[in-house]
Amino acid sequence: MSTRNDEMRETWDRSFAEQIERHAYNTAPVEALVRSVSYYLRERYDQEQLRGLHFAEMGCGAGPNLVWLADRGITVSGVDISPTALELCRRTLDAAGHADRVGDLVEASVSDVPLPDESLDGILESCVYQHLDRDDRLGAFREVDRLTKPGGLFVGHMLEQGHTVFEQHAAEQEADDPGTLILVEGGSNIYLTNIGLSHFFTKDEVRSLLPGWQTVDPCLLQYEIPVDEARKRGYEHYRQSMLVVYAVK
Ligand SMILES: C[S@@+](CC[C@H](N)C(=O)[O-])C[C@H]1O[C@@H](n2cnc3c(N)ncnc32)[C@H](O)[C@@H]1O
Repeated sequence: MSTRNDEMRETWDRSFAEQIERHAYNTAPVEALVRSVSYYLRERYDQEQLRGLHFAEMGCGAGPNLVWLADRGITVSGVDISPTALELCRRTLDAAGHADRVGDLVEASVSDVPLPDESLDGILESCVYQHLDRDDRLGAFREVDRLTKPGGLFVGHMLEQGHTVFEQHAAEQEADDPGTLILVEGGSNIYLTNIGLSHFFTKDEVRSLLPGWQTVDPCLLQYEIPVDEARKRGYEHYRQSMLVVYAVK
């Protein structure tokens, strides 16, 4: 792995160790993913056929999305750069009674995944690709294209440029990577303004990243967070702006 991957592994591993200590890691499936996957499956498969499917999540973390898939009988694999996250993910799947539905839990970067071409019926990602630099981001989408079977699904959940943080800092975009901000303002690292690199996608950009796919449908999801919380973050109003990308190869 590259030096940047080593740094990412260290950062995320530290974050997961802390989350485990505080019992603060994500245990709920992401609603936007659940709705999109449910729609896709309902249109194509009956209950029995779900057992023949293999889905993977890129940056699976503690694995709540994989548990949701395995609950439906689907075989699941997870890719994550953090060994601590993967260990937690395996424990979570075991505790949910899904040890026999686990394909591979792979310690790797999402931009270079050691799984075979066209081996997956579906790929999910939530809030992972948005923190990759340009080369890794392009690599991550190339891997989605390579790994997905024809007719297979990709669902992604990522920052969009209508976000208040992007609008306020638009002048600071990286010159060679429009849409990318590198912000380290101090304070809690749950805030984008202290997380380092964040990339804010556009709908057209996402469409261009999966060329040749039958469907690439990025749906915009925006909402204002409560004013008290906005003020805590130094804003009068704070709009979250995300794309939920539904794509069929
Ligand atoms: C924000 S968490 C999301 C976890 C999970 N998707 C969820 O919805 O609960 C981001 C996850 O991506 C992983 N990650 C970050 N960068 C990565 C990379 N380049 N390759 C693989 N995994 C990565 C982190 O270790 C972490 O588990």
